[in-house]
Amino acid sequence: MNKQLVIKRTQEFVKETLKIEGTGHDWQHVYRVWKATIHIGKEEKADMFIVELAALLHDIADWKFHSGDQSVGPKKAREWLESQGVDEQIIFQVCEIIANMSFKGAKVENKIKTLEGKIVQDADRLDAIGAIGIGRAFAYGGHKNRALHDPGVKPEIHQTAEHYHNSNGTTINHFYEKLFLLKDLMNTKTGKNMAEHRHKFTEEFLKEFLDEWDGKK
Ligand code: ADP
Ligand code: NI
Repeated sequence: MNKQLVIKRTQEFVKETLKIEGTGHDWQHVYRVWKATIHIGKEEKADMFIVELAALLHDIADWKFHSGDQSVGPKKAREWLESQGVDEQIIFQVCEIIANMSFKGAKVENKIKTLEGKIVQDADRLDAIGAIGIGRAFAYGGHKNRALHDPGVKPEIHQTAEHYHNSNGTTINHFYEKLFLLKDLMNTKTGKNMAEHRHKFTEEFLKEFLDEWDGKK
């Protein structure tokens, strides 16, 4: 098996499958996660073939767009990797990562246990904070017809994945319910360092936003 060729073909397959969509799950998101994965993976000395494949395939079929079915993503990834002649043991590890990496609420246990999984999860989480993360949050909120902000609606600490996914809160509340939590949830040292700056920027943005809210600034 020619690993470089499999990566290249996988990249083309994902680009063609995801194209452009408006919730922040498009090919450009995958591209950013893939690049951050390569950066973190090299620093953390991971198996690069596994992390690159998992990063490229991690949003191939998001459960949110398949009536809540969380098995579609790993299944689609498996079919693709089998068609490329990838070893079963690698397919198994890649699919484990894809099945378990997504954020499911403040108090919901993280099921990612391997170094490779931790790296791809960090890379995906980095894309949810900082300038890009802020942009994605508002894009997602708009797609879901959510208010930007409502001072009368308080953020929630979600105890279960179901509670988190069914939440109808404002986009600003999502900052408290997910974005600000990510910095302390980063798995790797490299990821943590990258998250620090993005986190600070996200906090500064929110401060400006709230300062403008009452028209005093
Ligand atoms: P993950 O990649 O961890 O599965 P999601 O698919 O839940 O993340 O979210 C994709 C993007 O949309 C992220 O940037 C995330 O912060 C944002 N997002 C998710 N839920 C909401 C929400 N309720 N309000 C605003 N943005 C959201
Ligand atoms: Ni993602």
